[in-house]
Amino acid sequence: MQDTSKGNFITLEGGEGSGKTTVITALEKWLQENGFKVVKTREPGGIPIAEKIRSLVLEPEYSEMDARTEALLYAAARRQHLVERVFPALAEGAVVLCDRFVDSSLAYQGAARGLGMDAVAAVNEFAIEGCMPDLTLMLDVDPEEGIARIQRAEEREWNRLDNEAARFHSKVHEAYMTLAEKYPSRIKRIDAEQPLEKVFQDCREKVQNYLNAKN
Ligand SMILES: Nc1ncnc2c1ncn2[C@@H]1O[C@H](COP(=O)(O)OP(=O)(O)O)[C@@H](O)[C@H]1O
Ligand SMILES: [Mg+2]
Repeated sequence: MQDTSKGNFITLEGGEGSGKTTVITALEKWLQENGFKVVKTREPGGIPIAEKIRSLVLEPEYSEMDARTEALLYAAARRQHLVERVFPALAEGAVVLCDRFVDSSLAYQGAARGLGMDAVAAVNEFAIEGCMPDLTLMLDVDPEEGIARIQRAEEREWNRLDNEAARFHSKVHEAYMTLAEKYPSRIKRIDAEQPLEKVFQDCREKVQNYLNAKN
């Protein structure tokens, strides 16, 4: 494996509508303005093998897809994205900003789908070979507010299916909180119910603290 210690691996986590995509774009701009080489990415990141695995996972025809198979396939796609995009960028000393990473699998498949966070972590450990993020910004928003933001953006009504989903999303939220408590030095919780400018300011501060401590 390449020496990735020169780079900085930062991930954004949080439920739907917590602001990950908005914040990551602002962080990219800010870091670039401050002279950092930045690679902004998200899984499967346009890596052809990872895209194919993802389309396999999401294929509606394969209703027989087992939850563990799904977890293994996501881990495989993650692996390919790491090898092709993340490892080389870190080896060059870039700041890699990744929209979702292994904590998403722990929260969504481990907790919300019920596979167990430890089991999903074990599978992912094989895939990532210890390449955990240096810093994770966990955008904490009430799951219903997160979904409502997306609905406002799409201008549609709250429906019965969204209520089903609400239970799922609250399990995801609970799992993220558990992870943040378990790994306080890596995972920084950000109050993402604040106005966007304040959310961004808090994120910037956490990134700055991390960079100061490292250098
Ligand atoms: N702190 C905030 N306050 C109000 N609206 C927000 C905030 N953060 C994000 N939004 C809005 O919520 C919607 C979803 O944001 P997005 O960044 O796409 O979230 P995610 O990528 O986490 O799903 C967008 O319309 C965005 O403008
Ligand atoms: Mg997004």
